[in-house]
Amino acid sequence: MKDIFKAIEEVAFSIDSAIKNEDLGYSDSENSSGEEQLKLDVQSDKIIEDRFASVSSVKALVSEEKEGVLEFDNDGEYTLCYDPLDGSSLVDVNLSVGSIFGIYKGELKGDNIVASAYVVYGPRIELVWVEKGKAPILYRAKGREFKEIGEIKLNPKGKLNASGGTQQHWEAKHKAFIDGLFANGYRLRYSGGMVPDLHQILLKGGGLFSYPATTDKPNGKLRQLFEVIPFALVYESAGGSAIDDKGKRLLELVPSHPHDTSPCFFGSNSEIEALQVAYGI
Ligand code: AHG
Ligand code: MN
Ligand code: MN
Repeated sequence: MKDIFKAIEEVAFSIDSAIKNEDLGYSDSENSSGEEQLKLDVQSDKIIEDRFASVSSVKALVSEEKEGVLEFDNDGEYTLCYDPLDGSSLVDVNLSVGSIFGIYKGELKGDNIVASAYVVYGPRIELVWVEKGKAPILYRAKGREFKEIGEIKLNPKGKLNASGGTQQHWEAKHKAFIDGLFANGYRLRYSGGMVPDLHQILLKGGGLFSYPATTDKPNGKLRQLFEVIPFALVYESAGGSAIDDKGKRLLELVPSHPHDTSPCFFGSNSEIEALQVAYGI
């Protein structure tokens, strides 16, 4: 797994440089979710594909920006599922964005994720790496290297509240639940990039991030293999919880297509318990 970690460190610096220096315009194509691809989405995808082509333990790639599975000609044991540039539409307003990686062994489902990582491109570059069964570890870039900062642990209860989706399309129970959190003193923190939003909750000790089912997106927006399941591993390993709107652990999701989405909730245990009560799940 060391070779995968090293490759992620390297692509993080290359993608950061692309974000800082390259053209911000649209490409002339769409991704599998029907979203217009920015040139930076396509470029970041290519940076990861080119680097992982020489990582012999990775036999296949599944990317937000690719339709199917890209198989390499090797005997590797892992499949890397990734979102090369999450929140890419925030680059033109100079907000933080990220990359997300899930490393799977065997069939592509929650139970088979063995490690995950994400990179935050903000005022500094940070990387979080977690292997199943261990605590997530935070690294911060210094020069051209990542230095280990320490383990990440969520408090049992936090203060931050971040919910995605258009409020007009929220279900009544979601609106009532979110209003209830604010009535109990929670602060709104939502940038529209799941990587910095989830990272903030993790590092500030806790809270809740939701991307619920909405009337316009009944299965939510965030994609299981390269957004939802990798962060579920980070949150559970930090001592928190990660469930869907039926109360099922996100680490038990079994996607039937690489681009399947799921409603998702990540948080400290106290907020997830409050969600279960409010949703009756
Ligand atoms: P991407 O840029 O990879 O398509 O993902 C953006 C995602 C995620 O980062 C964020 O939490 C969510 O979209 C925001 O969606 P809403 O604007 O609907 O809240
Ligand atoms: Mn994304
Ligand atoms: Mn993306």
